[in-house]
Amino acid sequence: MIEFRNVKKDFSGRPVLRGFNLHVRKGETMCLVGTSGAGKSVTLKHMVRLLKASSGEILIDGEDIQPLEGKALSSMREKFGYLFQSAALLQWLTVYENVALPLRERTKLSDGEIDRKVRHVLDRVNMSHALGKLPADISGGMQKRAGLARAVVSEPDILLYDEPTSGLDPVTSRTIDTLIHDLQSDLGVTSVVVTHDMISALTISDRIAMLHQGTVLEVSPPREFLASQNEVVRDFLDSQCISRNFFEEFPERILK
Ligand SMILES: Nc1ncnc2c1ncn2[C@@H]1O[C@H](COP(=O)(O)OP(=O)(O)OP(=O)(O)O)[C@@H](O)[C@H]1O
Ligand SMILES: [Mg+2]
Repeated sequence: MIEFRNVKKDFSGRPVLRGFNLHVRKGETMCLVGTSGAGKSVTLKHMVRLLKASSGEILIDGEDIQPLEGKALSSMREKFGYLFQSAALLQWLTVYENVALPLRERTKLSDGEIDRKVRHVLDRVNMSHALGKLPADISGGMQKRAGLARAVVSEPDILLYDEPTSGLDPVTSRTIDTLIHDLQSDLGVTSVVVTHDMISALTISDRIAMLHQGTVLEVSPPREFLASQNEVVRDFLDSQCISRNFFEEFPERILK
């Protein structure tokens, strides 16, 4: 579904992706984890060609997206919903209008049809009470939920989430995890979730990819990831005080 083949990216001669290989399978939820600056957001941006690789191939549904231009590029991007690292809501539009925007821009749906879809997704993320509010007047967690609604409203095949729980308190973070999981199982989408938060990664992933110094160090399902012998992975888990017995200690965390 999404495949990076030996992708390299440098910014003004400074390498950020150094021979990056990754295969995200159709229908799975893959989390990308790694320390700040590891290249997680840069990786997501390559998937929708917001950034272009210096070399290597990036295949979406078997098609190399690097050379795409114009209409072909736009239609490739329509496969994606994207929740940016900052929720990136337009500050002068209400929650309702922010969520309606992708449908107004990308589709020829009638106002009635748009209204039905927007209300449905906002209900899905428990935001029905805030349709008319401006982003500045709602909390960070509500902004993330509105961003989530906007990412899914056009029913994309692939959802990209950049730090969906950053800056949120632990309780709200777990609500967002459950939402991501439920949306994935309802819609059957392929999801790539960038996160610092190992609890999120363990809870919602089919597989976790550890990024380190511009490469993919390890890709494994949560239980194998917890048992990894790789020193960088172990240090990363230890830095967040994640126990090797995480699932035995918190069985309610098992969503997958
Ligand atoms: N447009 C750009 N121009 C120059 N350098 C960039 C650009 N975008 C990212 N970088 C650099 O690439 C590296 C990886 O950045 P990236 O945003 O992918 O990190 P990250 O893993 O998402 O980190 P964080 O967890 O802090 O969000 C960083 O050193 C960053 O400074
Ligand atoms: Mg980032």
